[in-house]
Amino acid sequence: MLSFKLPNRFCGRAMLGVAMVLGVAIVAGAAEPSVPYVPTPQEVVERMLEIAKVGPQDYLIDLGSGDGRIVVTAAKKFGARGFGVDLNPVRIKESVENAAKAGVSDRVAFHQRNLFEADLSDATVITMYLLPRVNLLLRPKLLDLKPGTRVVSHDFSMDDWKPDAFVEMEVKEKYGNAGGDSSIYFWIVPARVIGSWQWQLTVGGKPLAYEVTLEQKYQMISGTVRVGASSVTLQDARLRGDQISFSFSADVNGSLLEHRFSGRVTGNTIEGMATIAGSRSQRQLEWNAIRGAKTGQI
Ligand SMILES: C[S@@+](CC[C@H](N)C(=O)[O-])C[C@H]1O[C@@H](n2cnc3c(N)ncnc32)[C@H](O)[C@@H]1O
Repeated sequence: MLSFKLPNRFCGRAMLGVAMVLGVAIVAGAAEPSVPYVPTPQEVVERMLEIAKVGPQDYLIDLGSGDGRIVVTAAKKFGARGFGVDLNPVRIKESVENAAKAGVSDRVAFHQRNLFEADLSDATVITMYLLPRVNLLLRPKLLDLKPGTRVVSHDFSMDDWKPDAFVEMEVKEKYGNAGGDSSIYFWIVPARVIGSWQWQLTVGGKPLAYEVTLEQKYQMISGTVRVGASSVTLQDARLRGDQISFSFSADVNGSLLEHRFSGRVTGNTIEGMATIAGSRSQRQLEWNAIRGAKTGQI
């Protein structure tokens, strides 16, 4: 059999082409399809769910759920619960039938609804096979979800919100049997950490005040710390969902101390652990930081 591989750019353009031919409207809130129906090949569905580490604790929502395959597979193979939304009543009927055939009707639901109006607040995982413009219209809503919520998109990115993971795979069943590549983009919704964070630690028997000022672009963070007379740049600053960590070296009362902090962000507080090491000793301390007034858009 003759097989050939289409570059992913072609696959993306093919879907965009279908959108143009069908004249689908890309308008948030429009009660007409924003995206044509093109099913995700089953092997890509499974890879998407593996990348997102979907499991029995998860509640998955597929935006534009087609014949329900992502939600049904998440329930049957990965033990999750969830729902799908689609504007097309034929797709909803197929999804309900597919859920029944798979024996997962008690754990999934399908709603004939505009995806822009779906309540996403219960989601721990969002899946999408939409279009770049639609992804961008959804992006602010996704970034407002609970930190740690995972988002997986088949074939389309989120522009300058770079993915936390990206996988490209060759797929024989893409566009029927045409074959091609599928791209999988994976993000973790980051906590909002912009601003000044303060805390105190007892170091060398004396209370010491720290102030970190953080900048943020999506999950990318950077910042500086003021401690004693020192002001230094943070090293290895990382944010993954609500988990934050960074390190720095600073002169404290004449000694160079290595600092490493890691903790969990909840609103305007961080709780975690600090490790402080000098030339002869190392200590682990509880770390509780509070954010001051300044916050901002990520
Ligand atoms: C590319 S298909 C993806 C189907 C399924 N998620 C999958 O990956 O197999 C997009 C689906 O979104 C639905 N859709 C398009 N615009 C929508 C909207 N505004 N609200 C809800 N569903 C929509 C279409 O009917 C279609 O079934």
